[in-house]
Amino acid sequence: MAKTRNLLFEPCISDISYDFLEQSKLYSYQAKEYSERLHAVMSSDYFMRNISQHSIELGFCDEYDLLKNDQLPPLAQALNQLNHLRSSQRNYDLEDKITLQDLSHFLHLSYSITQGFDPSLLIPPRRNIASGGGLYPIDVYVINQHIPELPLGVFIYDLFTYKLKLIYAFKDRDELNKALNKTLFAEQKNDIDYTNASAFMVLGAELERSCFKYLDRGIRWAMLEAGEIVQAMYLAGASLDMSNCAIGGFNDEALAQLITYQNPSQITLLALALGK
Ligand SMILES: Cc1cc2nc3c(=O)[nH]c(=O)nc-3n(C[C@H](O)[C@H](O)[C@H](O)COP(=O)(O)O)c2cc1C
Repeated sequence: MAKTRNLLFEPCISDISYDFLEQSKLYSYQAKEYSERLHAVMSSDYFMRNISQHSIELGFCDEYDLLKNDQLPPLAQALNQLNHLRSSQRNYDLEDKITLQDLSHFLHLSYSITQGFDPSLLIPPRRNIASGGGLYPIDVYVINQHIPELPLGVFIYDLFTYKLKLIYAFKDRDELNKALNKTLFAEQKNDIDYTNASAFMVLGAELERSCFKYLDRGIRWAMLEAGEIVQAMYLAGASLDMSNCAIGGFNDEALAQLITYQNPSQITLLALALGK
């Protein structure tokens, strides 16, 4: 009888994909040029006018009017309201810090188990987001800056036990500031009020979790899943009257060191500033 291969322990991500991941990283020596490029786009009338009206050019085709949305059922109305409230908020009030209770609500609404494990179905417990194959490759990390009930540090959010597990404690605020400068380029960028954000969420992918089944294609699913979680975070923030903003420009290697990723298949896909 052929021996069953243990796919969990076989390499499943190709060198070319690793090359792509490496190529898409942002290093500190590139940060200035990167910000200048962003600034050039955002400060140009020409670019902003064009990108605000972009659409796929289809030529002539039949068109059908969609119908009005004034008869939404109550839950749909609530979602509609949240969709309108959702926005990227880049300024935070240091006097109105997020509490552990706020953070707990936020994490619960953003990413949590919504249906227990049914061994007969052989699928993991369902969460509030869809996941290719139910493999859930994303881990959520929290960097605490101003939440009073928690130490200054880096935590992993364990949604099975609903606990924050401290993986690194900063000695003092000075060390935290240095880490934020190094990882999020906090001092080099003026897009977000990094100093007053209560905390930062970091969405880290363990690509092997998805790729062991889907090979390189699993990288796509991990990226999509980070998008689902960040959208859930935006909606959670809107529902809880919190302010948040996604952060795409971060120092990949510095964040990997801070979070102590253990494998090259662990990468950060996105971060998010959270405050009030
Ligand atoms: C993947 C991603 C990365 C982003 N990175 C940043 C960022 O580094 N800094 C920032 O100020 N906003 C960032 N944003 C927020 C976008 O600028 C914002 O979503 C967009 O301008 C639309 O505005 P809205 O979210 O308020 O609707 C990011 C958003 C996404 C989805």
